[in-house]
Amino acid sequence: MARLQGRRIIITGGASGIGRATAALFRQEGAAVAVLDRTASPDGAPSFEVDVSDATSVANAVAAAVKALGGLDGVVNAAGIFSDAGLADTSAELFTRTLAVNLTGTFLVMQAAAPHLKSAGGGTIVNIASGVGLTPTGPGSTAYVASKSGVIGLTKAVAMELAPAVRVNSVCPGAVDTPMTHAFLVDASGATVPGIARRYALGRSAAPDELAAAILFLTSNESSFVTGIALPVDGGRTYH
Ligand SMILES: NC(=O)c1ccc[n+]([C@@H]2O[C@H](COP(=O)([O-])OP(=O)(O)OC[C@H]3O[C@@H](n4cnc5c(N)ncnc54)[C@H](O)[C@@H]3O)[C@@H](O)[C@H]2O)c1
Repeated sequence: MARLQGRRIIITGGASGIGRATAALFRQEGAAVAVLDRTASPDGAPSFEVDVSDATSVANAVAAAVKALGGLDGVVNAAGIFSDAGLADTSAELFTRTLAVNLTGTFLVMQAAAPHLKSAGGGTIVNIASGVGLTPTGPGSTAYVASKSGVIGLTKAVAMELAPAVRVNSVCPGAVDTPMTHAFLVDASGATVPGIARRYALGRSAAPDELAAAILFLTSNESSFVTGIALPVDGGRTYH
């Protein structure tokens, strides 16, 4: 039996990387998926253009997606942008933009989706935070770390508010080979660059599918007693 049979799910950032792998796995598992992204899904999943940092754009895209799906049972917030700039090099504009996409975007999508999840009788939300939101890897990424710590806290707050009907969890990935990271994560042979691999007990970065599997667990009924957590999927970086 497919693990998401009959579930109707919005995936932001579903046109690339972790969101794209999640959309593919969820469709395999029987879900009807709507991708909300700046660009359309390259895999032919029904797609709705959105800028998650813009409240009107989110309201319109969520309404259109819910109409197309015929209701809503789940959300995955995977849209995001990265910045490695440190405190001195982060302009106010860069800080504001990073927070607007990663944190405000997650908030806006949850706010627009929650009434639909409730009227379906319940559902799930999975927000993609980051391992650096729990434990930074070192100096730099000031705005990004702030945004991802915010996503972890926001997830806990909304989990308490929407319980028991809606379960809300975050996933905290370590380094994942996606279009966001490929240029600095992977060398010409396809191996994780040594300076990054050393940080991980498992000695490598992750494939997007390995994150999709964790997101599937938190979306499926297998995690029926799990809400409000921040799940590290980080190859052991936290304790290494
Ligand atoms: N790749 C990693 O190593 C890693 C590690 C930890 C956390 N994450 C997080 O995982 C999530 C997915 O990242 P990824 O690595 O798959 O990156 P990616 O760049 O491959 O995918 C991100 C997607 O988000 C979309 N997006 C960006 N800004 C948007 C906006 N304003 N409105 C709508 N869509 C927007 C992009 O178009 C893209 O399709 C992000 O939140 C990222 O911060 C990634």
